[in-house]
Amino acid sequence: MFHLFDDTDMNAGRLRVNIDRWNPDPRIIARAARVLRGGGLAAFPTETVYGLGANGLSPDAVNKIFRAKGRPTDNPLILHLAAPEQAELLAGVDGRAADTMKAFWPGPLTLVLPARAHVPKEVTAGLSTVALRMPDHPVALALIEAARCPIAAPSANRSGRPSPTDAEAVEADLGDRIDILLDAGSVDVGLESTVIDLTGRKILLLRPGGTPAERLEEFFGEPLETPGDDAKRRSPGTRYRHYAPALPVYVWTPGEGEKMPRSIDPSTSGFMGMTPPSENFARTILFDSEKSYARGMFAGFRHFEAEGLLHIVVEWPRSQGIGLALQDRIRRASAC
Ligand code: TXA
Ligand code: MG
Repeated sequence: MFHLFDDTDMNAGRLRVNIDRWNPDPRIIARAARVLRGGGLAAFPTETVYGLGANGLSPDAVNKIFRAKGRPTDNPLILHLAAPEQAELLAGVDGRAADTMKAFWPGPLTLVLPARAHVPKEVTAGLSTVALRMPDHPVALALIEAARCPIAAPSANRSGRPSPTDAEAVEADLGDRIDILLDAGSVDVGLESTVIDLTGRKILLLRPGGTPAERLEEFFGEPLETPGDDAKRRSPGTRYRHYAPALPVYVWTPGEGEKMPRSIDPSTSGFMGMTPPSENFARTILFDSEKSYARGMFAGFRHFEAEGLLHIVVEWPRSQGIGLALQDRIRRASAC
């Protein structure tokens, strides 16, 4: 454990640096900003998950993100901003988009808008749109400000792996491929931002996430459209198997007569959910709310891996609030 003002924090070359979430040391922020300005990779906390950041206006820097993650290059990136006003430099912002930013930023909501011509195609994957978000995390905001550029950042995991909700997970997946990792402890939300497409008349929900769909529908006064195949092509990330731990994930729906999947042996498996299972699992993680389930699920996947278990059983959550995002991640982790 470092102390905040201990000079060991400032050692050049030390990958992982502790930083106080509520009072980020400007010297540490400056060091990470230098990495970004120099075209390097800086991993940093946001309120949703840890991000793997690069200068979002530099094609070379952005390409490093794809190489480090092993990410398919047709999957576009989100540009992270420190203020809503910065959006206009990168995208066409109409009244509806401006109102949405005002209501939901900073926060776990990503807006897909018409891209300005100078946004690198490495960021947009060649689409005519760009995804923007202002994270609700003092370290992320300080870093973006100090870097003086939008930060392109996917979740800081190897492609296909569960997203990282703490610095340990980032280090485990990418420790040898990044230049600096700002460690501000565990994140709040635990699942990625909600992504909506505001380029058409109808509002498309491209990815459920930290901002509940109900809140958005209430704000817009209309239902969000769930993408058909055409819109899915527009958010290519939704095509891949994702968020998956090394162990097979099975889904259990609680309720009378709902048996555990027959092919698994509880004595060598881990269970995660909100309802205590009747079987004796080798490890059981119980959450008291959907919110804490969302915060802890990805870390739980990694924990079960480390414990050397053979299978994971997760409870199917309700579709309300953050539950919709949980369902989406579970569906793709289990390929069910
Ligand atoms: O919470 C989050 O959003 C985290 C933190 C680090 O901010 N970031 C994140 O990034 O989850 P990533 O790259 O793992 O997911 C970005 C999602 C992908 O599904 C991608 O396809 C979609 O946003 N996306 C990005 N640009 C897009 C665009 N122009 N049109 C449609 N979808 C886009
Ligand atoms: Mg991701």
